[in-house]
Amino acid sequence: MTEDRGELVLRLIPRLTEINSNGHIFGGWILSQMDIAGGIVAGRLAQGAVATVAIDGMKFISPMLVGDIVAVYAREERRGRTSIGIRVDVIATRGADQQQIDLTSGLFTFVALDELHRPRILPTG
Ligand SMILES: CC(C)(COP(=O)(O)OP(=O)(O)OC[C@H]1O[C@@H](n2cnc3c(N)ncnc32)[C@H](O)[C@@H]1OP(=O)(O)O)[C@@H](O)C(=O)NCCC(=O)NCCS
Repeated sequence: MTEDRGELVLRLIPRLTEINSNGHIFGGWILSQMDIAGGIVAGRLAQGAVATVAIDGMKFISPMLVGDIVAVYAREERRGRTSIGIRVDVIATRGADQQQIDLTSGLFTFVALDELHRPRILPTG
């Protein structure tokens, strides 16, 4: 994972209810947090409503464990006419030695929407 992770958008502590039968945190829970974080950044860049249209290259690198303190980072990676690609990386801080562990990474594409929920041209600048 790149050192330039972008903006720290969310810090989270997973709860016992998010654990699967392996003792890991559900991938779907992590994915939803990434979607929320990416949507916050995309919505700000788009200056309005956005919808997730695609998630590419989603990697679950290491399992997330109870007790992890989770940080969700997001940064613009690609900008089109109506869509923005936001790279979202999730890092855990774990244990007494505060180890930093790469958990997940994915490229989330958001489309700016108009009032009819159709694609809207992104603002410039
Ligand atoms: C988002 C939505 C309005 C786009 O409508 P559409 O008719 O597919 O629009 P377009 O084909 O004009 O594509 C719009 C943009 O999305 C991009 N796009 C569409 N499908 C894509 C995909 N699978 N991967 C990456 N980009 C994609 C297009 O390249 C285009 O980007 P650009 O204008 O920057 O070049 C429509 O697909 C939709 O409503 N999807 C459901 C969204 C949703 O419910 N998300 C979950 C909750 S937020």
